[in-house]
Amino acid sequence: MAYNLLSGKKGIIFGALNEKSIAWQVAEKAFEEGAQFTLTNTPAAIRFGTINELAETCNAEVIPVDATRVDHLEKLIDRTMEIFDGQIDFVLHSIGMSFNVRKGLTYEDVNYDFFQKTLDISALSFHKLLKVAKQRDAIKEWGSVVALSYVAAQKTLYRYNDMADAKAILESIARSFGYIYGRDKKIRINTISQSPTKTTAGSGVKGIDGLIDFTERMSPLGNATAEECANYCITLFSDLTRKVTMQNLFHDGGFSSMGMSLAAMEQYNKSFDDDLIED
Ligand SMILES: NC(=O)c1ccc[n+]([C@@H]2O[C@H](COP(=O)([O-])OP(=O)(O)OC[C@H]3O[C@@H](n4cnc5c(N)ncnc54)[C@H](O)[C@@H]3O)[C@@H](O)[C@H]2O)c1
Repeated sequence: MAYNLLSGKKGIIFGALNEKSIAWQVAEKAFEEGAQFTLTNTPAAIRFGTINELAETCNAEVIPVDATRVDHLEKLIDRTMEIFDGQIDFVLHSIGMSFNVRKGLTYEDVNYDFFQKTLDISALSFHKLLKVAKQRDAIKEWGSVVALSYVAAQKTLYRYNDMADAKAILESIARSFGYIYGRDKKIRINTISQSPTKTTAGSGVKGIDGLIDFTERMSPLGNATAEECANYCITLFSDLTRKVTMQNLFHDGGFSSMGMSLAAMEQYNKSFDDDLIED
């Protein structure tokens, strides 16, 4: 059901690789809610993913961009402003990647070139994007920027590796830039901390199925899906959340506030029962 929340609004959506991507779901919802936007991803992701199908459904132009490259971001912003004949209203940063995770290196044994790439792709790209957007005065007053984060920024989750550090920086950039962009241009910047979700990036974390089962048992409302995350993004792009800024907003069914739940304890206790049986 659509509410026309983004009627007339224009934006940029980063990170739709395939239909599992959170950004894909956001694009579909934004389109339903009346928004127009450009879509962007790396040239490789455009080749290997299915973003062009999404672009066709949403009547959007796809602009190839490596988000770590300032010159690419400048071209993206310029082209988007050209298409929409001026400023835009919202941006979604839905980008994350770690070669250390991909290659199965452990946190105490990370490759530092990979580590720097993780930080550049998953966190500094957000700063670069905000800097370019501000320099070009690309976002309208009361516009909204959202990036996607994960609770590993606050709590240690086995195997999340250097992505945890990237998310901590990402959330900090949202606060630091949120102050400046809010003060100067009334633009809000937030991060959404989403439940583990079985996307391409999510599936790169070894043991994601166990983690998803654990967080499902631990969360009173259950895990949040990609589609539910998209709904939350739409509210943050809408005019209904104009005074929300510099926040890391948990969208995780309550997981981040839990210590132990009945459902998780029952499952955990089963392991002791099994031990007793084996004895
Ligand atoms: N899936 C989860 O469990 C989960 C949970 C919380 C937060 N997140 C975050 O959500 C965001 C989206 O991830 P997703 O789960 O939809 O997976 P996804 O794999 O569909 O999306 C990640 C995207 O990042 C893009 N990307 C990688 N390097 C890039 C670069 N240099 N320039 C531009 N784009 C680049 C990829 O092409 C891809 O489209 C990420 O920030 C991720 O960390 C995911």
